[in-house]
Amino acid sequence: MQRIFSGVQPTGNLHLGNYLGAIRNWVRLQSEYECIFCIVDMHAITLWQDPKELVKNTREVAAGMIAAGVDASKHIVFNQSMVPAHAQLAWIFNCVARMGWLNRMTQFKDKAGKHKENASVGLFAYPNLMSADILAYRATHVPVGEDQKQHLELARDTAQKFNNDYGVDFFPLPEPLIFGAAARIMSLRDGTKKMSKSDESDYSRINMTDDADTIALKIRKAKTDLEPLPGGIEGLEGRPEASNLLGIYAALADKEKTQVIAQFEGRQFSDFKKELVDLAVSVLGPINTEMKRLMSDTSHMDAVLRSGAERADAIARPIMSEVYEIVGFHKP
Ligand code: TYM
Repeated sequence: MQRIFSGVQPTGNLHLGNYLGAIRNWVRLQSEYECIFCIVDMHAITLWQDPKELVKNTREVAAGMIAAGVDASKHIVFNQSMVPAHAQLAWIFNCVARMGWLNRMTQFKDKAGKHKENASVGLFAYPNLMSADILAYRATHVPVGEDQKQHLELARDTAQKFNNDYGVDFFPLPEPLIFGAAARIMSLRDGTKKMSKSDESDYSRINMTDDADTIALKIRKAKTDLEPLPGGIEGLEGRPEASNLLGIYAALADKEKTQVIAQFEGRQFSDFKKELVDLAVSVLGPINTEMKRLMSDTSHMDAVLRSGAERADAIARPIMSEVYEIVGFHKP
């Protein structure tokens, strides 16, 4: 069976973009692949995190994954810092990947902002840790949203260079799995910006922890234009907010966007938004309830994470022994 690895940062609430762009696909892939899902706390600290919040968010993200349908007993759910292989392989990849490759990463440019000199070294080297996450398990497939595509290209280049430099055929070149309309969910306040945990405005995103009233309020307040909804996909040209809301509806309803456009042709946003609220609440409500139930038992959540880490470590440890031998790290 082929192996999947994917991860989410515990930097705050999971949001609709994480769910539709990643986690929902993970749930669907579980029957075909052996899956390893990671809460990447070591990635999170590339930007400052309050330690207590980081612990809470780590449990919450794990609860969100499981509430959404990830099966933590059949597959693996754990937090990155529990398995030493991630840091060990990341260092080796720091010595394989080239500065020029990392300089091209658009996410670093976005996150570092204007003052790159003040960004942490970790933020710059972040993609190498991500390559290590995947390759410490020799995973072959990586389901992610569109924004991670460039990092995965780098992971493939790094795996290839390692194999070439050491004259081995050791690491697979991991394939990204990026699915359709939901691969890039945009902000509810600005249809040209990605929905993100780091946006200052909570109205820009729907969180997996939002209750029905909050979801309704956020959708009612979501930015739109003044035109009625169009009759065809061409009518969405230059209308990013309309396009995003129709895309969200399509993803939640598991329909093609063109079908949803036909369904709402000529209708007013106020009408459409009511139906979007009902749909969003019906999909997210049960996940939210289950997440709260899981979060109320932190010792159970910790036991799940511990078991996941043990199983992850058992896969990664022998792979790292081989890597150390290939690299020539003496084991006296
Ligand atoms: P993160 O935590 O930013 O996001 C987790 C997953 O959610 C997807 N995603 C989105 N999809 C659609 N629309 C959006 N607005 C949206 N926002 C986020 C992301 O593409 C991702 O799949 N570097 C990664 C975490 C990571 C990782 C890995 C992923 C670390 N190691 C190894 C895969 C394999 C990140 O910051 O994701």
